[in-house]
Order: sequence, then structure tokens, then C-alpha cells
Amino acid sequence: MISLKFLYSITKLLPVAIIPVAVYHAFERSRTVRRKQADLKSKSFTETYWSFTHVTFAAYHIAMQIATERLILRPWKHCDHAEAESLFRYASDPEIGIRCGWMPHRSIEESMNTLDNVFTGDENYAVTLRGADSPIGAIELKKAESGDHAGEFVREAVDAHSLFEGVDAGRLERALAHYDGDRVLGYWIGRPFWGQGMMTEALQAMLRHAFVDLGCNAVWGGHYVENPASGKVMEHCGMQAVCRKDGDYFPLIDQRHDAILRVITKEEWETCRDKTGNPKPAR
Ligand SMILES: CC(C)(COP(=O)(O)OP(=O)(O)OC[C@H]1O[C@@H](n2cnc3c(N)ncnc32)[C@H](O)[C@@H]1OP(=O)(O)O)[C@@H](O)C(=O)NCCC(=O)NCCS
Repeated sequence: MISLKFLYSITKLLPVAIIPVAVYHAFERSRTVRRKQADLKSKSFTETYWSFTHVTFAAYHIAMQIATERLILRPWKHCDHAEAESLFRYASDPEIGIRCGWMPHRSIEESMNTLDNVFTGDENYAVTLRGADSPIGAIELKKAESGDHAGEFVREAVDAHSLFEGVDAGRLERALAHYDGDRVLGYWIGRPFWGQGMMTEALQAMLRHAFVDLGCNAVWGGHYVENPASGKVMEHCGMQAVCRKDGDYFPLIDQRHDAILRVITKEEWETCRDKTGNPKPAR
């Protein structure tokens, strides 16, 4: 006969049994995710172009993997020294960070810290070349929140009637009404890869992802006036320049820059893109 005392002592041991099982389960799930990503990568371009991997484990959301003709946009690997080294190689370049509003990385440890504590957004992707896993850049769709920098920037311009000529204030008002939960862009790519159309390719895929998969109403993006290459990338993807703010303050670099804000709404994206996110061919 099992005594009550014995049963009571077993219940006290339950957490000891459950914790290893939970840890093992989490480990297995993360292996499955990595296997799925590896499978996706090994498929042909046509097979993978619009394949996305969604994995949610408890409250932990793992971003998808997005394939373009030359690139794979994949989640960052955290606590990974090779990843940090590759990030440091490009993010230590003063021509990169300053244009994005952050200081160039000074050490691999700093890059590791960025991987673990800054690149934590649900839609922050490492840009990698097909067939080579090392990150050569980054692209992020950051959640827009009312009162944030980009939203305030446009709000002020609408209120001050200082939008660029031809910009429809009503359209911006409507986009601002849905601002919370929409997305603000951020991106960069290592200097050796500039001027080959890669960021335009990445942004086209990300816009499709934003409108089709994430259900955004609009995607916003800003760049310095003295960074026309970034303006061109957004322009190529249909993002219209709506206003300019002179002497905009960027706290992480303690500098002021004249900046331009751009936006594309879902409606505009649908009218100027085919379903793959590429520009519609001229009729
Ligand atoms: C901006 C950046 C992401 C562009 O990436 P990229 O892969 O070189 O971009 P693409 O090749 O797709 O397109 C760049 C376009 O800008 C043009 N361009 C480049 N330098 C230019 C300049 N000084 N003036 C005008 N146009 C310029 C290119 O000719 C190209 O346009 P085209 O296709 O019509 O010829 C890259 O330069 C970068 O990472 N810069 C540093 C970080 C940064 O600025 N991030 C954006 C912050 S808002």
C-alpha cells in the first residue's frame, strides 16, 4: 500500500522531472527550426522564392527566412562568434553606422552584444548571399509606435503644411491613423556589395513580406539628404518622399542631419507591384 506521505514526497520531486523534459523539448524544437531553414536553403530558387518558415515556440517568435534571387534574409544567430565576427567586419566601417544613426562597432564583443541585445526585434534579418551563410548586412521592419521619431516627423509636417509638393495630406492622415503596428524600415549592406542592386532586391522582398504576411497598412523609411543611395533604393521600390526635416537630431551619434521621410501604403504597393513584389512590366 502506497502511503500518503510517499505520494506527497513524489509531488515535491515533480519539478525536478519536468524541467529536464521542458529543456529537451525546447532544444528539439530549435533543432527542427534550424533543419527547416537548412531545407529551405537547399531548394531551388523557384521552389523557395515565396516559401516562408513561421515558427512560434511559446511566446518566442522566430522570424521567417526570405529568399530572393541572390540573397537569403534570415534571422540573426545569437551568442554565435562567427556571426559576431562577420557583423563586426562590416559594422565597424564608419561609412555604415553613421548613415544609420549609430556608432561604428569598436570590437567583436560589441558586435556580439548587439546581436544579443539589439537585434532582438521580431522582423530583424541578417542579409546573406545565397550559398554563403555569413551576414553582409541587415534589414529590419521595426514596429511603428505613435510618438516615435518617424511618426512625429510626418505629423509635424502634415500640421505645418510643409509636405513636398504633390503629396496628398489626406493619404498621409489616413496612413498615420493606422501608424501603430505598421513598420519603419532600417537597412545597411557592407561596402564591398554596394551598387549591385542588392538592397533594392532585399527591400522589394521585405515590402512584399510587410504587406502580404504582416498585414501592414504602410511602411515608412527615412534617410539623410546627403545619402542619395538610400533614397534611390526606397524610390526604386515605390516609396514616395513626403517631407524633409532639417537638423534632425540622432542621439546615438550626437549629430544633426537634414533628413527625408518616405512612405508606401499597401494600396500603392498593390498598384505598382505584381504579386511577387516586383515592378509590373510596362504595358
Ligand atoms: C544605402 C545602401 C543600403 C544601398 O545599398 P545598395 O545595395 O548599394 O543599393 P542598390 O545598389 O540597390 O541601389 C543604390 C542606388 O543608389 C545609386 N547611388 C549610389 N550612390 C549614389 C550617389 N552618391 N548619388 C546618387 N545615387 C547613388 C546607385 O546608382 C543605385 O541606383 P541605380 O540602381 O538607379 O543605379 C548602402 O549604400 C549602405 O548600406 N549604405 C550605408 C548605410 C546606409 O546608408 N543605410 C541606409 C540608412 S537610411
